[in-house]
Amino acid sequence: HGTSMINDKGHLQIGGCDTQQLAQQFGTPLYVMDEALIRQRCREYVEAFRASGLKFQVAYASKAFCVMAMCRIVEEEGMSLDVVSDGELYTAMQAGFPAERIHFHGNNKTPYEIGMAIDAKIGCFVVDNMVELHMLNAIAGEKRQKVKILFRITPGVEAHTHEYISTGQTDSKFGFDIDNGSAFRAVQQAVELPNIELLGVHSHIGSQIFEVEGFQMAVDKVIGFAANVRDELNVVFSVINLGGGFGIRYVEGDTPLPVAQYVKAITESIKTNFTKFNYPTPEIWVEPGRSIVGDSGTTLYTVGTYKDIPGVRKYVAVDGGMTDNPRPALYESRYEAMLANRANEENEELVSIAGKCCESGDMLIWDVELPKVESGDLLAVSCTGAYNYAMASNYNRIRRPAVVFVKDGTADVVVERESFEDIVGNDVIPARMKQVS
Ligand code: LLP
Repeated sequence: HGTSMINDKGHLQIGGCDTQQLAQQFGTPLYVMDEALIRQRCREYVEAFRASGLKFQVAYASKAFCVMAMCRIVEEEGMSLDVVSDGELYTAMQAGFPAERIHFHGNNKTPYEIGMAIDAKIGCFVVDNMVELHMLNAIAGEKRQKVKILFRITPGVEAHTHEYISTGQTDSKFGFDIDNGSAFRAVQQAVELPNIELLGVHSHIGSQIFEVEGFQMAVDKVIGFAANVRDELNVVFSVINLGGGFGIRYVEGDTPLPVAQYVKAITESIKTNFTKFNYPTPEIWVEPGRSIVGDSGTTLYTVGTYKDIPGVRKYVAVDGGMTDNPRPALYESRYEAMLANRANEENEELVSIAGKCCESGDMLIWDVELPKVESGDLLAVSCTGAYNYAMASNYNRIRRPAVVFVKDGTADVVVERESFEDIVGNDVIPARMKQVS
C-alpha cells in the first residue's frame, strides 16, 4: 500500500527508497514514514468534509506521532492540531504551527499548561471537568483574555472496537456525563463565567473503530443534549467535535472503511439530526490520529540471534522491541512483517519475533510466516506509524531510533537517533559521591 513496492533487487522499497540502503545509511531499528501516504490520508479527510458542504476542522491528534516535521505537514495540509500536554504544545509552537488552529485536550491540564496555552493564544480548550473550568476562567481573567472552549462529554457510547455499549460510560475519567446531568450543569456554569466562550461539545468514543454505528449513536446523543440545552438554557452550540478513533488495517481480518465513508456517515447523520431538531447545523470537528499516520510507518530491524525449540517454536530476535513498539506488550496488538532484503522469496517457516529487552513479554509478533531467516536479515514491520515512536521508551537504557520521512526517492531524518549523551544527559551524580573525572 502507499508507495511501498518490491524493487528489482527484491528489496522492499518505500517512497522510492530502498529499505536496505536506508538501513545501511541510518542504522536500525529505524522508523520509516511514507510522507506521500501521510499527506494522502490528510487529504482524504479534508476532501470528504469539503464534499459534505459543512463547515469543518480536521484536527490531527498529535499524540499518535508528534514531531516538528509532522506538525509542518499538518499545517501544509490545512488541518488543525490536537495537543494534550505542554510538550506537544511546545513541539507545535517550535514548528511554527498556527496557534489559532491548536486545540488543547486532557483531563488534568496543569495551571502551567493552561497559562502557556493562553499566552500562545491557542484556538480552543476542550474542558474536561469543573475544576478545570474554574481554573481556566481564573487564569484567563488574570491574563485579561477570553478563551474559547468545548466541553468534553461522555456520550454514553463506548466502542470496544467491534461492539458498542450504550451505558456504562459514566464510569470514565474523562468528561462530563450527559445522563447524570453534569454536562448540563457545566453549560449552565460556563455561561455565567466572564472569561469563557462556550463553542460546543466534544465526544470521543474509542479508538481503532471499524463501524460507523458508534459515531452515529454519538451524534444522536449529542443532538439530544444540544436540543435540551437550547430549550432549557437558550444556548446554541456552533461546534460539535466527534473525536477520533477511525480504524486502520494492521493485519488480515481488520476491516476499516475508507476514510470518506466515516466522514460521510458522520456528516449525513449530523445534517439529518440537526434538521430534525430544527437546529442550525454546527461546524463539525474530528480528531483522527492513528488513521493519519498509522499505515505510513514501517519499522526496520536487523535480525540478530535466533533460537529453535524443536516442536515448539522458533524465536527470532531483532535489535529493537517493546522500547520502540510497546503496543504488542501493552495491548496484545498484532502486526505483519516481511523480510525487506528478500522480499520476493517464498515464506518457508513460522517464527515469532522477539525484542531485545530483558523481559519475556517483549515479543513483537507471535507467529509470522517468513523465508528462512538468517542473522543480518532486515525485518520490516508494517503499520507502525501511530503510537510507536510516540510511546517509545528508554527501558534498558536503549536509545530511541531515528525517524526518516521518505518521498520520491529522498530520505530525510526528522528525528535523530538518540545518542549515549542523550541517555545520560539528565543524570546527575550528587556532589557527595566520587565524581567522574
Ligand atoms: N481524540 C481524543 C480525545 C482521544 O483521546 C484520542 C485518542 C484521539 C482523538 C485519537 O484517536 P485515534 O484516531 O488515534 O484512534 N495508545 C493507544 C491509543 C490511545 C488513544 C487515546 N486517545 C494505542 O496505541 O492503540
